[in-house]
Amino acid sequence: MLRRLSPIQPDSFEFTPANLEWARAQMTKYPEGRQQSAIIPVLWRAQEQEGWLSRPAIEYCADLLGMAYIRALEVATFYFMFQLHPVGSVAHIQICGTTTCMICGSGELIAICKEKIAAQPHTLSDDGRFSWEEVECLGACSNAPMAQIGKDFYEDLTSEKLAQLIDALAGGQVPLPGPQEGRYSSEPKKGQNALTDLLPPANEYNASVALAARLGDTIKRIDGTEVPILTPWVSQPDAASDDQAGENAQVEDEPRPAAGQPVDETGVTEQEAEAESAADVESDQDAAAAQTQGRRPQGLGAPRAGQPDDLKQISGVGPKLEELLHSLGFYHFDQVAAWADEEVAWVDQNLEGFKGRVSRDAWVRQAREIVNKRKGTGS
Ligand code: FES
Repeated sequence: MLRRLSPIQPDSFEFTPANLEWARAQMTKYPEGRQQSAIIPVLWRAQEQEGWLSRPAIEYCADLLGMAYIRALEVATFYFMFQLHPVGSVAHIQICGTTTCMICGSGELIAICKEKIAAQPHTLSDDGRFSWEEVECLGACSNAPMAQIGKDFYEDLTSEKLAQLIDALAGGQVPLPGPQEGRYSSEPKKGQNALTDLLPPANEYNASVALAARLGDTIKRIDGTEVPILTPWVSQPDAASDDQAGENAQVEDEPRPAAGQPVDETGVTEQEAEAESAADVESDQDAAAAQTQGRRPQGLGAPRAGQPDDLKQISGVGPKLEELLHSLGFYHFDQVAAWADEEVAWVDQNLEGFKGRVSRDAWVRQAREIVNKRKGTGS
């Protein structure tokens, strides 16, 4: 299929502050000068914000990453994950039409899309709230036929189930993703018949369904609403695993709603999900609270002899973090090497946008090694 930009283009594009912060954090994953490597996640975030990728959005991302427009256009037009035309404001439904799904009934799902949304793919429904397309294998073949909506997979679909899903979405609900006919994940439909001595699933939901249930907005996020910042690597070092443990514990106590029921029936209300997401974004109150955690290490007003160490030698410290450290009064390896645990806790909390990096990347150990090496060489 020829993938061209839409003839209808907005005048401009700009990330929301939260998304811009997220995108900038992505860029720090790559060495200085290689920020272009973040093009796919940055384009994806732009698409999540607007629902599709307009030319201004692609060019905005290219500018952000310091790359030529044509390079960003090459990526956006190559991958089918990027929508180059406006999609439904509520949902864009991607029906897998590859072999397994085709054999298991994807044709019937496409018929439902034609009936309830639009006769042609990549066409908005009359009310502009839905669109659909047929895509190639999405890797959930054992749960065929299936569809992807937003970031989620809806599996074991039938034409009736898909029609119910579309009706639920139209009614403002966020249906629970995952297998829609009672399966936990991809075990045989008649139940697990091998490795039965292994532990049964500990939770009501498989991991991806549990995450979607916890977020509660996995469809709405493409509707131009603020996108929750989910960057475990920016939070506390063990936040991801803690989150998972907490998530599992929470899910165990919750009744599983019937497939296709709105997520808020699980007890995770939209407000709670929003509040949880908001907690990931450092608010003014959080920043004030952060000041009180741990103990602030002694800083310097300026580097000794006007010559700071190259703190970027610490793995995980890039130019932005080095600048941040300087702003806090830290210029030398021996300063970092001397931090006690409670001082590490303070710095971890006060690296705005990079929380937890000191612990995660073991800066103190690295700094001590550099200091000891220098002592050994007399440099
Ligand atoms: S064939 Fe549909 S997910 Fe693989």
